[in-house]
Amino acid sequence: MSALQIQPLGYALGAQVTGVDLRRPLDAQTRSTINDAWLRHLVLVFPGQDLSTAEQIAFSRAFGELDDHAFQPRYTHPEHREILLVTNKQIGGKPSDTRNTGRNWHTDLTFTARPAKGALLLCREKPPVGGDTMWANMYLAYETLTPRMQRFIDDLEAIHDASLVKGLEQRDPEKVAEMKRLNPPVAHPLVRVHPETGRKSLLVGQRIRGLIGLSDAESAAVLGFLNEHAQSPEFVYRHRWSVNDLVMWDNRCTQHIALPDFDQAQPRLMLRCSLKGEATGRILTATTSALSDREALMQSLAAIA
Ligand code: SIN
Repeated sequence: MSALQIQPLGYALGAQVTGVDLRRPLDAQTRSTINDAWLRHLVLVFPGQDLSTAEQIAFSRAFGELDDHAFQPRYTHPEHREILLVTNKQIGGKPSDTRNTGRNWHTDLTFTARPAKGALLLCREKPPVGGDTMWANMYLAYETLTPRMQRFIDDLEAIHDASLVKGLEQRDPEKVAEMKRLNPPVAHPLVRVHPETGRKSLLVGQRIRGLIGLSDAESAAVLGFLNEHAQSPEFVYRHRWSVNDLVMWDNRCTQHIALPDFDQAQPRLMLRCSLKGEATGRILTATTSALSDREALMQSLAAIA
């Protein structure tokens, strides 16, 4: 019998999983129990998992195909494209461009047509205090809206834009230009249906430029309300990291934010595997590199009007 234990960490989401050694291959029963817990709690914390890069990749693969981060090609592990390095440590003698990754509320890779299914983040180094990450339950965000509001937003689409990733101005301009060129604005449903649970959730966040079919002012008002609502403290789990915590989140029904609540002179090193998701987006233009963001967006909107 498995010694696996699952202990909820929050009412809205989050559970701790103990009694499993993720360095070992998973048997079918354990994988299925973890997957069920993941669907139920959305964020799973596995403490004390001193995984090698290969072991993290192997465990992650048990839950889906891994993304090779082609949309952020210069931020990956030098030998393993499946691992994104999220760190404030120096890389090649320069501050890492990922030192401010995830500083606004977001769902991973919504600036691509294929947002991640989920992600697995391993903490290798952390500051003595702070450097926390918060996740919010987007099922609850949707389900607590009034039926009338749900009907109003049910078939809206939102324009997600990589240029709204926070802190781009602190990154290498050449890499930022490449990231924007690789990622023209993309439209995703504002309300999505989880492919495994069938539940509806809100896909909002701070990387959305507008809502298709609404004026700028209307978009700003609706998004302002939805974002504030989605970030309500009662929907949130805040994780205080320990070294060798592996956190696995369901990106299809959550959003998250990495807090800059720590002394940046202290190293923080996180390794992320992303699970490939389903294609839910429509790319709006392929010509962003030749145009200003505003011009590209106007052309995209004209094309779909
Ligand atoms: C991310 O958004 O994937 C980064 C999360 C973190 O560094 O805590």
